[in-house]
Amino acid sequence: MDRIRIRGGKPLHGTIEISGAKNSALKLMAASLLTEDALVLSRAPRLRDSRFLGQLLAHLGVEVEEQAGSKLRLQAASIADPYAPYDLVRKMRASFNVLGPLIAREGRAKVSLPGGCAIGARPVNLHLEALEALGAEIELEEGYVLAKAPAGGLTGARIVFPMVSVGATEHAMLAAVLAKGETVLENCAREPEIADLAECLNAMGAKVEGAGEAEIRIEGVDRLHGAEWSVVPDRIETGTYAIAAAAAGGEVILKDALAAHNHALWRALGLAGVEVREGENSVTIKREGALKPVDIQTEPFPGFPTDTQAQFMALMTLADGASIIRETIFENRFMHVPELSRLGADIQVRGNEAVVRGPSTLRGAPVMATDLRASVSLVIAGLAAEGDTVVNRIYHLDRGFERLEDKLSACGADIVRESE
Ligand code: UD1
Repeated sequence: MDRIRIRGGKPLHGTIEISGAKNSALKLMAASLLTEDALVLSRAPRLRDSRFLGQLLAHLGVEVEEQAGSKLRLQAASIADPYAPYDLVRKMRASFNVLGPLIAREGRAKVSLPGGCAIGARPVNLHLEALEALGAEIELEEGYVLAKAPAGGLTGARIVFPMVSVGATEHAMLAAVLAKGETVLENCAREPEIADLAECLNAMGAKVEGAGEAEIRIEGVDRLHGAEWSVVPDRIETGTYAIAAAAAGGEVILKDALAAHNHALWRALGLAGVEVREGENSVTIKREGALKPVDIQTEPFPGFPTDTQAQFMALMTLADGASIIRETIFENRFMHVPELSRLGADIQVRGNEAVVRGPSTLRGAPVMATDLRASVSLVIAGLAAEGDTVVNRIYHLDRGFERLEDKLSACGADIVRESE
């Protein structure tokens, strides 16, 4: 298994090109199931997660072709069998999003339940309730969802989500675009990836309005057609490299980043004493002086994203004073704490709050990646630590960060991938 070795203490200087958003690309890939024509995604990130989903789509009968220039062509001319087996779904939760499109197009589907993951139980009740509201009959049998649409197909409905869920909002959209009549979704998640999915669906002939707001209205259409779509830049990758530059010091330009998608983070970095300059298609991050402590609380968009909580905690270990980090989205998202402590951080966890006392002099050590965003927080700590940090089990990193070590070493970081 590969690992990453970082020799810390080098400031970062240079430009990092931001890839397409993983969390958007995975839903856009699922949207390819809604039409017989080709969906061509550009700025498609080459990641383990997108390859896993590609394997599942291929199993369903989709022609999946990686093309030059970060393009991904997907064509579901026909669906071989609307069956998503456990082995292909368990590797990545977002695979579950094929359920809605399969019911909408084929009238039936059998999809494995995704199960929990390291950061929490992550149920799918809201996804299933939304599909039922559209008329799907759903049964759970031996770990599988067996779903059927009524004879006339799915029908539009008014769905009020009892809590904000990114995945359930997207899943409902993916099914409602082909339902008969109007669907109104209320209390929707407002993440930029949702607007990206809606705009791509509209480019395919769907009628979706209001994505990015709490209420989304969808007028069902009979069929969708092919389209070309450019995946929105990854705001979590953007935030991660911004925090890396703040931790290591120096000045980094994040090219293709959309500043408007990270305002909560820019505010927190500003309070920490980091300079953030927003350009039209880039953001520049500069840090020279000492870091100040900042309290944050994770929230649905436009609040501080849970997906950059671990990275920000790594940064706060270097700040001069105490900061409080409160996680409100997932119940078990502090697995990076014991690993950061191995590097010399002083962090105490009480329930969903972590108190970080800095500044710590971090010293390199072997550490273990536990989930996607937690593992990159260890890379960030390693960039600021004295000596060598070795991050093991980096398949988690490869799930969501494209060419991480190349992007960082191009800015002067001493970081290499090693094979055991
Ligand atoms: C997505 C992102 C993930 C991010 C998260 C929150 C993808 C592939 N993943 O995950 O990176 O951290 O949004 O921004 O886009 N919940 C239920 N029942 C459900 C669905 C969710 O109780 O049916 C709960 C979850 O357990 C969690 C909360 O709702 O506590 C929010 O989860 P949700 O927004 O659905 O996250 P995901 O879509 O899984």
